Amino acid sequence: MAVSGAATAVAILAAGAGTRMRSETPKVLHPVAGRPMLAWVLDAARAAGCDRILTVVGHGAEQVRQTLDRPEVTWVEQRQQLGTGHALAQVAPHLTGSGVLVVLSGDVPLVRPATLAALAAAAAGGWGSMAVADLDDPGSLGRVVTRDDGTLDRIVEAADAGAEELAIRTVNAGLYCLPFPEIFERLAALRPDNAKGELYLTDALGAAAAAGDRVSLVTLSDPSEAMGINTRADQARVHRRMLERKLDELQMSGVSVLDPSRVQVEPAVEIGADTTLHPDVNLSGATRIGRRCHLLQGVWVRDSVLADGVIVEPYSVLDGATVATGCRVGPFARLRPGTVLGAGSKVGNFVEVKKSTLGPGVKASHLTYLGDATIGAGTNIGAGTVTCNYDGVRKHPTEIGADAFIGSDTMLVAPVKVGDGAVTGAGSTITQDVPSGALAVERSRQRNVEGWVERRGRKRRSEGE
Ligand code: UD1
Ligand code: MG
Repeated sequence: MAVSGAATAVAILAAGAGTRMRSETPKVLHPVAGRPMLAWVLDAARAAGCDRILTVVGHGAEQVRQTLDRPEVTWVEQRQQLGTGHALAQVAPHLTGSGVLVVLSGDVPLVRPATLAALAAAAAGGWGSMAVADLDDPGSLGRVVTRDDGTLDRIVEAADAGAEELAIRTVNAGLYCLPFPEIFERLAALRPDNAKGELYLTDALGAAAAAGDRVSLVTLSDPSEAMGINTRADQARVHRRMLERKLDELQMSGVSVLDPSRVQVEPAVEIGADTTLHPDVNLSGATRIGRRCHLLQGVWVRDSVLADGVIVEPYSVLDGATVATGCRVGPFARLRPGTVLGAGSKVGNFVEVKKSTLGPGVKASHLTYLGDATIGAGTNIGAGTVTCNYDGVRKHPTEIGADAFIGSDTMLVAPVKVGDGAVTGAGSTITQDVPSGALAVERSRQRNVEGWVERRGRKRRSEGE
């Protein structure tokens, strides 16, 4: 699939202001499926085997460069945004001799690496090539007028099109493979005599075709690859489509997605076969989920690793957590960064865990906060237990051994250690270390006042008379 043999370089046009986004952020940095849209275009070029990527930036150039700096990218500045033709002309000084140039648009992020190869192959049979697609709703994209032999006649921008041209469903995807130096000679001849007053790259292709050069059309088998982003609504549609693609891939690889319209999985997330995703599951970042897991309704996971056979009950949030095989989490659990759950452990309802390691088989089933804690295998943490890890200035650790039993509503005032097999009485505030095998009770002795209720009743009745 490598295009590097056929193509001399790739140029990406990403300098436009994107005024229709109505944003302070440069358009190409707006996210799609969790990453700047331009990152996807750069990835496609890289995946197609291109190690020379000339990226034209202008509007917010410094911010774009800083966000996406990579060794294979040469940043080319377009100081004034005079149109796509003017943008492409900026790369001329970076190319010597002759060859072919794959041209991509920074706002067309669904482009697949295979399309670059297809464009390069099609260009080899003529002067150049461009990708087209038949869309039900061509919107503001350029309309492609073809000749009887199936090659390009001209491209008409929506803003310049008459009713008949607007009815054309075949659109310009903004992906091309063009010969140089010939293309630069055509660009030099462009005039901004159109609705936008810009130098249109598309006019250079039309001029080549008019001069008898053959511009081949590559029809995209997945038309959504041609979706460009000019507005927030376009961005939302492309985002949705990228997530759909990911879900299609996951389903092909054996993952069950119960309602794809309600599940979001970012493309970098990995999921093993026979795992089931219920509605409203949201998985993002560097997340890896094992095989045979069940993620129930409303589970939100970011940058976490779940081994095989993990069950996450509804409405749990996992962020930066590592969960071993056979664990059960939730419902309504929150695992914060640095949480490590050992095999078969359980973190239940309304339990929050932060920067803590729970050994195999540990149970913290209800209403608990565990922060900066290390807990040995088989220990039971009673309902309402809190590691009091923060003294207002610093965080302190709590260490609990194996097979310990922490009674309900125990306050563990850190730094503190509880030994193996030790027990704390319910309601105790533990401020001193508890030796292995000991019982620690810290609460005042209960006093029962016999007959008190009866006496109170009598007193009230006499006061009321
Ligand atoms: C362009 C095409 C249109 C095609 C569509 C595909 C032209 C004239 N029109 O329209 O036929 O259907 O893309 O999505 O080419 N850019 C620069 N410098 C500039 C202007 C634009 O680098 O001076 C960059 C933009 O950042 C963007 C890309 O070029 O990434 C396309 O520009 P945009 O203004 O979005 O063109 P469209 O109107 O979408
Ligand atoms: Mg565009």
